[in-house]
Amino acid sequence: MAALIGILPGDGIGPEVTAQARRVLEAVGSAGGHAFELREGLIGGAAIDATGKAFPEATRQLALQADAVLLGAVGGPKWSDPAARERPEQGLLDLRAAMGVYANLRPVRPHPALADASPLKAERIAGVDILVIRELTGGIYFGRKQRDADSASDLCSYTRPEIERVLRVAGQMAVRRRGRVASVDKANVLETSRLWRSVASELFAREFPTVQLEHLLVDAAAMHLLSRPADFDVIVTENMFGDILTDEASMLTGSIGMLPSASLNAESRGLYEPIHGSAPDIAGQGIANPCGTILSVAMLLRHSLGLETEAARVEQAVSAVLDAGLRTRDIAAGGSQTIGTAQMGEAVLARLRA
Ligand code: IPM
Ligand code: MG
Repeated sequence: MAALIGILPGDGIGPEVTAQARRVLEAVGSAGGHAFELREGLIGGAAIDATGKAFPEATRQLALQADAVLLGAVGGPKWSDPAARERPEQGLLDLRAAMGVYANLRPVRPHPALADASPLKAERIAGVDILVIRELTGGIYFGRKQRDADSASDLCSYTRPEIERVLRVAGQMAVRRRGRVASVDKANVLETSRLWRSVASELFAREFPTVQLEHLLVDAAAMHLLSRPADFDVIVTENMFGDILTDEASMLTGSIGMLPSASLNAESRGLYEPIHGSAPDIAGQGIANPCGTILSVAMLLRHSLGLETEAARVEQAVSAVLDAGLRTRDIAAGGSQTIGTAQMGEAVLARLRA
């Protein structure tokens, strides 16, 4: 198949991890005779340095034209002056809004070989297979902001259609999985959460009567993720709760460097990115874990290009590498030898070609 894929490396370790993911995409393309056109664009701090804007017009055009976009990470100390007018993170939010990618899928499936890399006991992690669906284009991230010298506010607002469409994705995913959804809110305090909870009850009763729906308060959900992670199937929640809970959930896999994501809109076009940030502390050292980004390529192949076989092959290649004991520093178990970003990419490519 022919496809235009935008690649936005961004900042910090972003260029390092996307370079490896790009090699994987190229390998899948040439092995399957697919004409993937890979076109790079600027986003975040790199875009601010080059153009003055975190989400330049050329990048917007690329994102709107492309069948899918792969992104590394944005942000870093160089651009984090609180008084700065242009911020890297705003570029990412503008990209998500421009593409309309309201449903952010973050699968949390610890690899058995990495059980010793997680701070949780191995028996607690056994059998964990969670799909977190984070609402991505609404809520407090996008509400009106105000600031003067001594006060500030961020508005959190949601409309019924915004809530319904992301809950519907959760329902559709749940019927193909184990048929359970935990809807996470803070309905004991927040008005937006009370709307969310009633919309969830109505929508599941009407459209997904066979799905078992549970409502959980976000503070309790944070606890249950550690005390009974294997009980969860699909978790669906609003934008900021999803941001926080997925960093927490990533530790079930051993490292935030392992988690991929797919952000989908009403069509099949999507934005794919690891859930980690730009990790300025290790940027430029060639030691970042590229697995989250490579696994995001698998999600891209599956959700935007319909290439399920290729997607599964990429996931199997990553699994095989982990089974063989190869580890970047973040997932190393005491004393074992570690490899760098490029070697990890190379190892995945070798399994793909085999
Ligand atoms: C994420 C990140 C972003 C977010 C930042 C970089 C704006 O933390 O994708 O989880 O908060 O959405
Ligand atoms: Mg985050």
